Amino acid sequence: MTNDADRKRDVATSFGNATDGYRDGAVLKEGADLERLVDWTEGATRALDVATGAGHVAGAVAERNVPRVVAADLSPEMVTTATADYGGLEGAVVDAERLPFPAGRFDAVTCRFAAHHFPDPEAFLAEVERVLATGGVFAFEDLAAPADPELASYVNRIERLRDPGHVETASPAQWRDWLEAAGLTVDAVRETSRRLEVDTWLDRMDVPADRRREIRSLLSNAPAALEDAFDFRYADDGERLESYRTGVVLFRARA
Ligand SMILES: C[S@@+](CC[C@H](N)C(=O)[O-])C[C@H]1O[C@@H](n2cnc3c(N)ncnc32)[C@H](O)[C@@H]1O
Repeated sequence: MTNDADRKRDVATSFGNATDGYRDGAVLKEGADLERLVDWTEGATRALDVATGAGHVAGAVAERNVPRVVAADLSPEMVTTATADYGGLEGAVVDAERLPFPAGRFDAVTCRFAAHHFPDPEAFLAEVERVLATGGVFAFEDLAAPADPELASYVNRIERLRDPGHVETASPAQWRDWLEAAGLTVDAVRETSRRLEVDTWLDRMDVPADRRREIRSLLSNAPAALEDAFDFRYADDGERLESYRTGVVLFRARA
């Protein structure tokens, strides 16, 4: 990939080919994290869900009687899936780093499990700050890299093999710095984790056999510190990694 525009085009294509997995996969469809994000938008009147995927956050926000909810994504197929599955959503095909909305348009912005695809997270946060009205809430969730840079780089290598559109999973400390630099005030943080079934996680992105082998080999040879931190769980034969817990962080911030 030569530049960010090419990368974004490839991301839109690969997610456009993966709508069913993202719509039906339980890992995104439900969970305490989703409920928490939605709780954080309580009382909003105009909400924007950036990188909505199959629309699980946007749909849950609309179900809480927020009258106007925009489900926005780079992939037109994802926008179509989200608006078909959840009633009352407005769809928008947008780049998170160039939001086509006027300043102060929303009183809530959400973004869940997507920012690791954005080449310029600081541009994204500047846009979130711009489109939020003063006092509006940003409810954000993403994968969280381990604080140890070597482990973080190992995890990112695996993530990029699974999904070439993966840019970087940042640490919670990095996200806090970026949020504050964008002029957003962090008022709640939750660090948690999420168990991923390795095969299901690879299937969701339809990862080809050669890259699966490489990922499996990296997982088998992972540093002991990563195996502990991610709570690797093996099948009965003790050889095949079945699942692990990946770090996740949630932030609530105000404009
Ligand atoms: C894992 S899915 C999102 C899941 C969804 N937010 C949820 O909670 O169910 C990641 C989404 O990010 C979108 N995406 C990636 N880069 C983007 C960008 N620059 N602007 C907008 N959307 C983007 C992809 O098209 C994809 O639909």
